[in-house]
Amino acid sequence: MARTKIALIGSGMIGGTLAHLVGLKELGDVVMFDIAEGLPNGKALDIAQSGAVEGFDCALKGTSSYADIEGADVCIVTAGVPRKPGMSRDDLLGINLKVMEQVGAGIKKYAPNSLVIAITNPLDAMVWALQKASGLPRNMVIGMAGVLDASRFRHFLATELNVSVEDVSAFVLGGHGDDMVPLIRYSTVSGIPLPDLVKMGWIKQERLDEIVDRTRKGGGEIVALLKTGSAFYAPAASAIEMADSYLKDKKRVLPCAAYLNGEYGVKGLYVGVPVVIGAGGAERIVEIDLNSGERAMFMKSVESVKGLVDACNQIAPQLG
Ligand code: APR
Repeated sequence: MARTKIALIGSGMIGGTLAHLVGLKELGDVVMFDIAEGLPNGKALDIAQSGAVEGFDCALKGTSSYADIEGADVCIVTAGVPRKPGMSRDDLLGINLKVMEQVGAGIKKYAPNSLVIAITNPLDAMVWALQKASGLPRNMVIGMAGVLDASRFRHFLATELNVSVEDVSAFVLGGHGDDMVPLIRYSTVSGIPLPDLVKMGWIKQERLDEIVDRTRKGGGEIVALLKTGSAFYAPAASAIEMADSYLKDKKRVLPCAAYLNGEYGVKGLYVGVPVVIGAGGAERIVEIDLNSGERAMFMKSVESVKGLVDACNQIAPQLG
């Protein structure tokens, strides 16, 4: 059987980390694409050479030609520019929207049967644009945000409660922004919901609120520390978890930016919700009951996503 082919569109910090993880986990062969000349080739060669030490067999190739992604089973998209000081949200949106148009055209031509995982920010709008530009089925284009947001929440909770992070599960909803919705009621330590842990005296409600707030601002905290870039280890690990569930048809239930067609009362937008990821891509959206407070938070987040998509429609009406 031929090896799985994974195309990484964008070979910057997240792209490089993705390639390394694919190698270490022997998930398949890797094609690293970037417009920066030499960058994907250099990283691919470096990681391929680490295979001799780590003991993995996977072919890595760097390229600046879309033809090389031909037949990819999975495409993970990190291409784009980060927000720089002085750049407005709309400036960033405009630039990365153009990038998504190019990437979408490349995927449409060479990898129309792949699962596409978008990571480029602003995520919920970029995954929408990528689906439009590629024309791939909506269930085959998803965005990585929720797994990352949940991993941040899980890490903070595990550290605070002094329990294994493996036993902490977290549930997040909404867009990938400061108004994402960490759902306390559905987040647990080994099945015990967080509100029960508050009652049991394990954690004070105020402390839990602080952790929720820190989770919402988790990306910004890392940007402030790094000064010259944004998070890349945890985002890469999160996208790999999604790709793995697809490739092995594991049917993990993972929070992803998925196309909503009436679920949660939302139509025509990509928003973070729990999704069953299997061989059919986004196979099923898990629709849970929200109480009024949760619903209000979720709708606020949806409104922000809608604002971004409206801005995309104005900049590139041909996409909509
Ligand atoms: N086509 C292909 N690659 C592109 C294009 C394009 N049109 N435009 C830019 N790139 C490449 C850049 O050359 C760079 O190597 O995308 C890469 C992005 O890498 P980094 O700047 O290192 O960004 P990274 O930290 O990997 O994050 C990528 O994910 O989380 C988001 O906000 C983050 O949008 C950003 C993206």
